[in-house]
Amino acid sequence: MTVHFIGAGPGAADLITLRGRDLIAACPVCLYAGSLVPEELLQHCPEGAHIVNTASLSLDEIIAEIKAAHNAGKDVARLHSGDLSVWSAMGEQLRRLRAEKIPYDVTPGVPSFAAAAAALGAELTLPGVAQSLVLTRTSGRASAMPDGETLENFGKTGATLAIHLSVHVLEDVIARLIPHYGADCPVAVIWRATWPDQRIVKATLETLEEATEGERGRTALIVVGRAIGAEEFDESCLYAGDYDRRYRPVGTHPRFPEGQDT
Ligand SMILES: C[S@@+](CC[C@H](N)C(=O)[O-])C[C@H]1O[C@@H](n2cnc3c(N)ncnc32)[C@H](O)[C@@H]1O
Repeated sequence: MTVHFIGAGPGAADLITLRGRDLIAACPVCLYAGSLVPEELLQHCPEGAHIVNTASLSLDEIIAEIKAAHNAGKDVARLHSGDLSVWSAMGEQLRRLRAEKIPYDVTPGVPSFAAAAAALGAELTLPGVAQSLVLTRTSGRASAMPDGETLENFGKTGATLAIHLSVHVLEDVIARLIPHYGADCPVAVIWRATWPDQRIVKATLETLEEATEGERGRTALIVVGRAIGAEEFDESCLYAGDYDRRYRPVGTHPRFPEGQDT
């Protein structure tokens, strides 16, 4: 018996991996985080599967469901939105499963920042503009931010920021970032990327508050940085005609002599 933690993707039901879909189909028990996991994915469950929306359960109740499946020798598909490596509450479940000696594995999913970038049609790491992407959030009721992980500190680097769980404090986010990125820095808010009601507002830090017309909602990403919508950036050396590399040796670099299969 194994608990399969599966990244369910950002919302569109066809943005789950084939492995994730096949695991759902193979498991007689499915626990899903109903607040953000699309119900359509449950169509992959086998007939008669025991399906539980864990949105209203405590950690103890979730573990009790898993233990019951374990005692019955039934595999569990455990679905969380996006990818499991960020803000999934998987860590605390895995710790309990290790203590109970219940086997598990993890299948990645499409994270919401990637879905938001795709919705913008944007590369977030443009040469000469930004080469780092920070996935972050602001303090919430359930989770305080560790010292040092502040918007101001990340802002000092000029990296592209993908700010989660924070659209309800948009004004505060804007005020804290303007001193570091400048009032004219591009920013986008993407609500419910890949869901049928996806919405995007593009603006600058200075104009964003007005552009969102007071809309806040809950499920949105704020993406900030000069890489958004930039046209002035360097081309990547990788595809430059005279750039010598392993897969396209042109004989200008001693490490990759022309004609040698490296
Ligand atoms: C609990 S976290 C889950 C993150 C998820 N594990 C991931 O990989 O993106 C929920 C937050 O992720 C962001 N989010 C999740 N799905 C989203 C979507 N489809 N569009 C925009 N933001 C999304 C929002 O900031 C939301 O408040």
